[in-house]
Amino acid sequence: MPELTVLAPAKINLHLEVLGLRADGYHELAMVMQSLDLADTLVFNPTADGQISLSCDNADLPTDGSNLIVRAAELLRARSGLPELGARIDLQKRIPIGAGLAGGSSDGAAALVGLNALWGCGFSAAELLAMAAALGSDMPFCLEGGSQLCFGRGERLEPLALAQPPGLGVLLIKHPQASVSTPWAYGRCREMRGDFYLEHEADFAQRRDALRHSPLLAAMAGKAPLPRLRNDLQAVVEPEVESVRQGLALLRGLDGALAVAMSGSGPSLFALFSDLAGATAAQAALVGPLAAAGFESWCCRCTGSGATLGPAAAPL
Ligand code: C5P
Repeated sequence: MPELTVLAPAKINLHLEVLGLRADGYHELAMVMQSLDLADTLVFNPTADGQISLSCDNADLPTDGSNLIVRAAELLRARSGLPELGARIDLQKRIPIGAGLAGGSSDGAAALVGLNALWGCGFSAAELLAMAAALGSDMPFCLEGGSQLCFGRGERLEPLALAQPPGLGVLLIKHPQASVSTPWAYGRCREMRGDFYLEHEADFAQRRDALRHSPLLAAMAGKAPLPRLRNDLQAVVEPEVESVRQGLALLRGLDGALAVAMSGSGPSLFALFSDLAGATAAQAALVGPLAAAGFESWCCRCTGSGATLGPAAAPL
């Protein structure tokens, strides 16, 4: 079997609403997730020694059993009942690490897609989605990608029926030293807003329906201007993390930005533009202030796909 390549796209949250707390301790969410054409590449080679080994061009990333790629490979192999299966996996990392862009989850989803093909396991899309949900809340979305409503703890997907992905350009920024722990952000959200959490399924259902008919979805279908974006975790993280406050202030000052928000639990931030050229021009306009404040930045576009078997992407 020749080597096999899978693209693992980043995502941003165009909407992240914390509805309440679930019996399993997770938060009940109503989100709109959007894949980006900023992607990692995973290259798979089969081995017959029962070893799963991971290498990466970024030394900051652990390549041991804590990496979601290795955990996904081990779960897939366990479900296949064939312990002799092995693979050498090389990760070319382009998505910023620990950023709220689902880089780790997308790599894990790509491992499920790649190894299902490489090992000829023949698991269905539904079986892969169930494995993804067992590994992480964002992983089912990363498998399917595109533009989707995500409910439950993030794993209940409803694809948006868009003729094409929103033609938006995205300027992403992240401070390399900033990091936000996702469990901390949700814990702080509970402390700050727990008294206002909804408690009943009927109320959750009403909020889901409101999102299905929201101005944001009309905007994504090209039928309305983009409204102000909502991320409930931003309200928690912004007061506590200096670089998030500083970065949001820089992005909010940009001409032509249609919306500005934090992605997921942060600390990456994004500004949306009507096209890629708008994002690139904004990046050029901010080059001095971004460098002075120590931010890294990336420009990309929305894409309609999740983890995809295929040739390597042009590096971004
Ligand atoms: O599922 P995942 O491992 O990505 O979640 C990481 C952490 O984020 C969880 O342990 C939990 O603290 C928090 N979380 C949550 N509600 C969600 C998703 C994540 O409280 N819906």
